[in-house]
Amino acid sequence: MQGFQFGVPTEIRFGRGSVSGIAGAMASFQVDHWLIVTDETLVSLGIVNQVLDGVEPDRYVVYPKVRPNPETGNIRDGVTALKAAGCTGVLAIGGGSAMDTAKAIAYMANQSGEIEDYLDGRGSDKRALEGEILPVLAVPTTAGTGSEVSLYAVITDEKTRIKDSLSESRIYPKIAWIDPDLMDGLPAHITAFTGMDALGHALEAILSTIENPMADFYAIEAMKRIFKNLPLAVERDQLARDEMAFAAMLAGAAMSHCGAALPHGLGCPLSGHLDLPHGLTVGILQIPMLKISKPAIGKKAEWIASELKLEGDDPVEVLIAAIDSLEKSIEFPSKLEATIKEETLAAMVEDAMIHGCTGLNPKALSKEEVTAIYRAL
Ligand SMILES: [Fe+2]
Repeated sequence: MQGFQFGVPTEIRFGRGSVSGIAGAMASFQVDHWLIVTDETLVSLGIVNQVLDGVEPDRYVVYPKVRPNPETGNIRDGVTALKAAGCTGVLAIGGGSAMDTAKAIAYMANQSGEIEDYLDGRGSDKRALEGEILPVLAVPTTAGTGSEVSLYAVITDEKTRIKDSLSESRIYPKIAWIDPDLMDGLPAHITAFTGMDALGHALEAILSTIENPMADFYAIEAMKRIFKNLPLAVERDQLARDEMAFAAMLAGAAMSHCGAALPHGLGCPLSGHLDLPHGLTVGILQIPMLKISKPAIGKKAEWIASELKLEGDDPVEVLIAAIDSLEKSIEFPSKLEATIKEETLAAMVEDAMIHGCTGLNPKALSKEEVTAIYRAL
């Protein structure tokens, strides 16, 4: 059997009501002041107060400026706020954007360079870390990104529009409270988008060229739960939302070990340039990945189809049909309602070709193929 390494250093505290223990956990860190990284909507919905119930108000400062698809400038702003408030720890409350913003602020707090110097896209020019990374805690309020169990912070370079990332094992959150009580209010379309992102993490982790049997084990379990529960979760069924919260965490852990494939490689430039939701762009690219990669994924598709108990002669085609049917049942868009200018398309293709996930796709992709996939969306 193939050797592998697997480890998620994040302590998971899962379950309805689990976040009620957060005050004690926060007090166990040598952190006098926490920066609470969140957004105005979660403040106004009372979620932030609900999470921080029991935490002394003089122990934290709320920074409610998270925006979707966080950019380098947002991180600079967050680091300034952190320093002004004298915070030495960061707590994220929100979806992937909040967690990625929090992780990036914690990463950059003690570095002397600019955030652009540390992005993965710099390749061999990426600057080495000089200072310590602050502790990060995470309270996800969506079931999808898996950022609570990943070593990535996805950040868009505000000048180049490239959706890039910081990756470093020390930015794994120390503790993640996955409390589905906080996700009950999530609107149907966001549940659908984030759920399809989670499906992408699982499927792409299995198909990517980085092989890891233990990650596959997490990923296939996530896929089973997503196919069964996402439609019900979109209809606000509470047990299904619990299952999706669990599945998204499993899928995130799998992706953190195997990376992703075409949908993230092409989806990140799409959401970076057009400012579209990450889950929408990743979800819409799942079927194109399977179609173009078909000659390279026969064995894996056979395994997935048998684990998911999908019947039919051609495992890739039955998997495509299953995803199509899942998407229809959650009213996931089959086409992008966006016009892409030719110059934007050219930039997206350039970015997709150098995105790390594109290189992990089971079938190598040419510029022409990437362009054709974008045009067909
Ligand atoms: Fe994702």
